[in-house]
Amino acid sequence: MFTTFILLLFSLFITTGAIPTTLNSATCSKGRTASRTSCCVWYDVLDDIQENLFDGGQCNEEVHESLRLTFHDAIGYSPKMMRRLKFGGGGADGSIMAHSDIETRYAANEGTDDIIELQRPFALKHGVSYGDMIQFAGAVGVSNCIGAPRLEFMAGRLNFSLPSPDLLVPEPSDSVDSIIARMGDAGFNPAEIVDLLASHTIAAQDNIDPSIPGTPFDSTPSVFDANFHLETLLKGTVTPGNGIRKGELMSPLRGEFRLQSDALFARDPRTACQWQSYITNHDLMVSRFRAAMSKLATLGQFRLLMTDCSDVIPVPKPLLKATTLPAGKTNADIEASCKSTPFPILSADPGPSTAVPRVG
Ligand code: HEM
Ligand SMILES: *[C@@H]1O[C@H](CO)[C@@H](O)[C@H](O)[C@H]1NC(C)=O
Repeated sequence: MFTTFILLLFSLFITTGAIPTTLNSATCSKGRTASRTSCCVWYDVLDDIQENLFDGGQCNEEVHESLRLTFHDAIGYSPKMMRRLKFGGGGADGSIMAHSDIETRYAANEGTDDIIELQRPFALKHGVSYGDMIQFAGAVGVSNCIGAPRLEFMAGRLNFSLPSPDLLVPEPSDSVDSIIARMGDAGFNPAEIVDLLASHTIAAQDNIDPSIPGTPFDSTPSVFDANFHLETLLKGTVTPGNGIRKGELMSPLRGEFRLQSDALFARDPRTACQWQSYITNHDLMVSRFRAAMSKLATLGQFRLLMTDCSDVIPVPKPLLKATTLPAGKTNADIEASCKSTPFPILSADPGPSTAVPRVG
């Protein structure tokens, strides 16, 4: 009886890929190898999206939007609602694409419709689920950015979902307390929120101030560096558009945009020391981002029933440069917010201060 159970369990593991039998056992297109045959399809999706969505492997606007989409699909997940016997969303289940007519009308999802419609044909052409497509595109996209981690990719999300309820995606005008509460409901502690916000190092806004689309959150939106962590701590002196919008604060550089929520997390006593530490510890920043993304990408999923196809994700180029202050700034411009550790002494880029160029 017991042995039958063990055998059954074991064969379940084998068929689902939870225990890899032999590594790199399958040979896929162009002689590439994967841990399992079922991962081969992802090489074909990879070739297609690198060429036709990411401009031949760039860290472009579509990469930024794809990473944002991984979050907006996954965070539609509320155990708190479930406990009140209300449907709280299925997490990283592709619902934002399957029910885009409903979910893209939610205020926090403004602007996600473009990337959803760009990704959808690739999912249909290759016969992969919407949930898998969204997380795969995010992981591949991130790999195109210098200094990024090689994210995990787990395949096997069902192509079935119900629309996620509204008001589960945090907004930049929300308080730190309310973002901590919402993210906590989904299973993330404050440190993991900081880890996930590293995503804003490869990000820009289009919709908070629609008069200045493509205005980035740091000076290097195609590099996965800690300039975002540094620049969010500089004194805000600049209004990048015509007026400061809801969820926006003054930014430190011309052409740069500051989200209120980013500025508050950078300064909150609960998160400021971790935030500051990433300025001089890129390795830690990216390894923690990778771990938090692995959790985000599988919210609402049973990991044991998924197949690890991370082999397919390209290896990103390493970052070779330490964090430096933007030209024209000194340590005196920093609003140091960590009580226990002095702000690190950084050198500044040479030359006069210049405006940050737009994305796209
Ligand atoms: C937790 C609180 C968060 C808030 C309040 C927030 C808010 C925002 C806002 C307002 C934008 C600008 C959207 C637009 O106007 O086009 C944005 C962009 C972005 N967000 Fe977040 N975000 C949060 C967390 C995250 C997380 C966890 C991720 C990914 C793991 C993420 C990834 C991105 C990316 C990549 C962009 C840039 C999109 C682009 O350039 O097109 N964000 N975020
Ligand atoms: C996934 O579901 C959508 C409907 O939401 C459908 O149009 C699409 O063909 C399905 N894809 C696959 C691979 O079955």
